Amino acid sequence: MGSERNAEDLAQHFTPASVADFAWAVMRTIAKRDLERGARVVDPAAGEGALLAAIGPGYHTVGVEIDARLAEKGRRSAKLFYTGDGLLGDFPEMKEGRFDCVMANPPYGKLKDVFGVLDDDMQAAVEQGFKVTGLVSGKTLNAFPIEMLFIERALRLVRPSGWLALILPEGVFANARLQGARDWLLRRAEVHAVVALPGEVFRRKGLNARTALLVLRRKESVGGGLARARLIAPAGEDRGLEGYLQQALRLLKHSKRQVAATSISVRQGQLADSRWDPRFWQGGKLVRDLAGRVPLAPFGDYIRHLTYGPIVTGRRPGYVETGVPVIRQGNIVETGLEEGDLLRVEADGAYDPLRSRVRYGDLLLPRSGAGALGKNRLAVYLGREPANVGCFVDLIRLEGLNPFYAWFFFKTRPGRAQIAAFANGVGTPNISFAEIRSLQVAALSTACQDDFEGRYRREVWPLHKRRRESDEIRAEGERRFRLIVDDLERHL
Ligand SMILES: C[S@@+](CC[C@H](N)C(=O)[O-])C[C@H]1O[C@@H](n2cnc3c(N)ncnc32)[C@H](O)[C@@H]1O
Repeated sequence: MGSERNAEDLAQHFTPASVADFAWAVMRTIAKRDLERGARVVDPAAGEGALLAAIGPGYHTVGVEIDARLAEKGRRSAKLFYTGDGLLGDFPEMKEGRFDCVMANPPYGKLKDVFGVLDDDMQAAVEQGFKVTGLVSGKTLNAFPIEMLFIERALRLVRPSGWLALILPEGVFANARLQGARDWLLRRAEVHAVVALPGEVFRRKGLNARTALLVLRRKESVGGGLARARLIAPAGEDRGLEGYLQQALRLLKHSKRQVAATSISVRQGQLADSRWDPRFWQGGKLVRDLAGRVPLAPFGDYIRHLTYGPIVTGRRPGYVETGVPVIRQGNIVETGLEEGDLLRVEADGAYDPLRSRVRYGDLLLPRSGAGALGKNRLAVYLGREPANVGCFVDLIRLEGLNPFYAWFFFKTRPGRAQIAAFANGVGTPNISFAEIRSLQVAALSTACQDDFEGRYRREVWPLHKRRRESDEIRAEGERRFRLIVDDLERHL
């Protein structure tokens, strides 16, 4: 089955060598003497063997890969390498309970996308073989996330007290639907660390997987655990992969207790019935810290109108010279709304419903996509003519909260971290209305909020309007914008 299916089907995205080295360094840092030379390490979905290649000499390494072409290359990385199915297959040197450690970056996605639509035998094998299949609500077996099966398989491959280092999509840590599976896992393994990996690691056309490295230790028996879990998400993802990974390793080695939002230490019990992704905990911690300094209020308390643009299926909007402008997420840049090339549609037509007409002073939030929500872009509408929003832009009309202040607040660390906590998982990041309402904002005085608006109007807006004239003007506008956000952050 393997070789005639193509690379996309098999979810083949390989671990860069620097991330593989990092994963092994994290594993060694945590397991210490428990993983000395001579230890047995397996990767049941080994690809070209990137993870196994990161392990030094002297270890007994075993790899399995379903795609024969890759397996050929992978052979060099391990003592033993099989071509075959690492999930359901049986191999002489790959018996369950025999390994000290599993290192894996398994395929992610729907079972049927990797294996093809399951026949009856396969359905039965998966249902009988994997307990997690009964723990995820609302999923048919064909649509079941294959990475969950690999987690269960990995857990069985190691001996009791054996170690697992798994690179997994953030959905595993964040999706509410997988809560039952997370709790199941927590009873069988101690979570030692979850380290968020930068978005760029597995981003390319057709793949936008935010991932994290999960380090687990299988328990001797089902029950509680004593180890504290470290949830790590270094700041400065945009400063380059190497620097980011070094920083993550430093955080892991040094701060034992909860010292900063970038490295949070929790008890095993705190992970029960909860998300595990570091950015979620980071958002929570920043908000708790903020609550100790200033009064907070739910953003929803100030929202008078919340909607998004029309979703019209089956056709594309045509340009109407004299029509109503439509604001789409690509029109929102760092310093505000790029009004230059807005699409115009027929007034009062399907693309211009009254309910999503934008007014002067409305806050605009691109609610989806790595390039918009992922970049944490917002804007306040300062046009005088009526406009509308596209289907991926949320229109937020506020009362009792200055929209400019709200914009800048959601650019500060505690604001941004809350949005990032919701924008998780594989595929397109997005945020729901309920999540938007639940965001917490610092209730600063009206005068203070208005001051920030004044600064924007004086210092940024004139440059924003001229941003197309040159790169220098655009960059200067962005620099001044950043200063406002930095000042607000200091003020909080
Ligand atoms: C995300 S890639 C990672 C590969 C490698 N571990 C790495 O980190 O570079 C997942 C690999 O699993 C392989 N794969 C998919 N289903 C498999 C299965 N049932 N058994 C073994 N390998 C499988 C894919 O062909 C792909 O090479």
